[in-house]
Amino acid sequence: MRKLIFAVTTALAVGLITPVTATATTPQDDVKAFQQYFYDKFPNVKKGDFKDGVYAINEDFRAQWLNSEEFPPYEESITKGEKMFNTPFANGKTYADCLPNGGKAIRQMYPYFDTAAGEIKTLEGEINACRKANNEDPLKYKKGPITDLTAYIAYNSRGKVFNVGVPNDERALAAYEQGKKQFYMKRGQLNLACADCHVTNAGGYARSDLLSPALGNLSHFPVYRLKWQELGTAHRRFGGCNENIRAKAFPPQSDEYKSLEYFLTVMSKGIEANGPATRK
Ligand code: HEC
Repeated sequence: MRKLIFAVTTALAVGLITPVTATATTPQDDVKAFQQYFYDKFPNVKKGDFKDGVYAINEDFRAQWLNSEEFPPYEESITKGEKMFNTPFANGKTYADCLPNGGKAIRQMYPYFDTAAGEIKTLEGEINACRKANNEDPLKYKKGPITDLTAYIAYNSRGKVFNVGVPNDERALAAYEQGKKQFYMKRGQLNLACADCHVTNAGGYARSDLLSPALGNLSHFPVYRLKWQELGTAHRRFGGCNENIRAKAFPPQSDEYKSLEYFLTVMSKGIEANGPATRK
């Protein structure tokens, strides 16, 4: 089964050459090595284009995609999200009262490690924390209204640059290391790591799917997938990728997925926020 999955398997067969090693390195070292790996692997891709996933590395797919962006299927969600955002809770407060900068142009700040709370804060988690503080029921984390809200927030954050770092704090470093481990750990019946597909085999194919580079892999969430016919969060996508290799998905907003999102975002320093976006 495992042998069948990749059309291009050379690197896997000879052992992994991954840009970030298991030995102790600082997050800053990791970012440099991680990004350089992709710049070397895709010398013709402009650094700023990695935010476009597979559409950065294949011109035919890019052309089709740009066409579809003329009437993007996520547009209605942005409108719904804007309305939700501006509709006061029963107590008269709004999201703008809880979120930094009144909730405007903040997508690129997430997820980050909050040293006061001692944990990773995700945008979705903060939306629900805001709801809870205002006596509203939490929203589900994979799809639905939460993605309308994050689509609206992502849309008004377009062009802002990700610059999430790891504060000098033992707990932050531990969260970062956990995310890194999640990314490089082999799992599931097919015994594959995220990095096997999105690093080593990026640009190759898994069955009929072109594999995106991990650099910039989260810049555009939430994502409207044609397969889903709706928007989904990054954690929904992680779950799908886990299930594809017959591994159990972790729940959205679990520590595992929060740390994975954190690691990938730290690696994408300098990439522009460009959500929401459409993907196959
Ligand atoms: C068997 C190969 C495989 C593995 C292992 C895998 N993925 Fe994927 N992943 C895919 C394919 C195929 C797609 C769809 C094409 C693309 O965008 O790469 C995808 C898409 C994604 C996307 C969306 C990219 C975009 O531009 O919207 C993210 C994010 C992602 N994967 C993260 C992960 C993470 C994190 C892991 C580990 C938990 C993982 N993947 C493991 C094959 C894999």
